[in-house]
Amino acid sequence: MTSSSSAEPTRRDFLFVATGAVGAVAGVAAAWPLISQMNPDASTIAAGAPIEVDLSPIAEGQDIKVFWRGKPIYIMNRTKKQVEEARAVPVSSLPDPQSDQSRTKEGHDQWLVVIGICTHLGCIPIAHEGSYDGFFCPCHGSQYDSSGRIRQGPAPLNLAVPPYAFISDTKIKIG
Ligand code: FES
Repeated sequence: MTSSSSAEPTRRDFLFVATGAVGAVAGVAAAWPLISQMNPDASTIAAGAPIEVDLSPIAEGQDIKVFWRGKPIYIMNRTKKQVEEARAVPVSSLPDPQSDQSRTKEGHDQWLVVIGICTHLGCIPIAHEGSYDGFFCPCHGSQYDSSGRIRQGPAPLNLAVPPYAFISDTKIKIG
């Protein structure tokens, strides 16, 4: 009796330790695929897989930021005032002359899609800031208008427009 009662705790201890060890291994095994899924594989990155974005939740005057090829992309549902301002500026007066029409898609005038990387030294400009109803880069004060065109400050070029297309009235494909 004495020997059996003293053996039981030992067996329970062993089972507890063994279960704990299996649990720890399973935890590591479960974590690895999760981490691995969060990073696209090299071929997907190289191919720059296109992304589809639903525009319906973006109200007039608002914008969202998505990521494509690791770059921030601003998608802005411009107000009529923003569109009018962008189209009223004489293109020849701009540091990087481009018409608003050439930077947007016909029939979808209110939508502006630009890569949110300042063409000066690569900071991310802030939307709806600055003197031109567009974007402001806080790093060195570049100001972009409501078409994402450089209007003031050290940045030499307009915010780039990524390749994209409307696949329906409320959905675009970037890339
Ligand atoms: S990085 Fe934007 S102004 Fe310098």
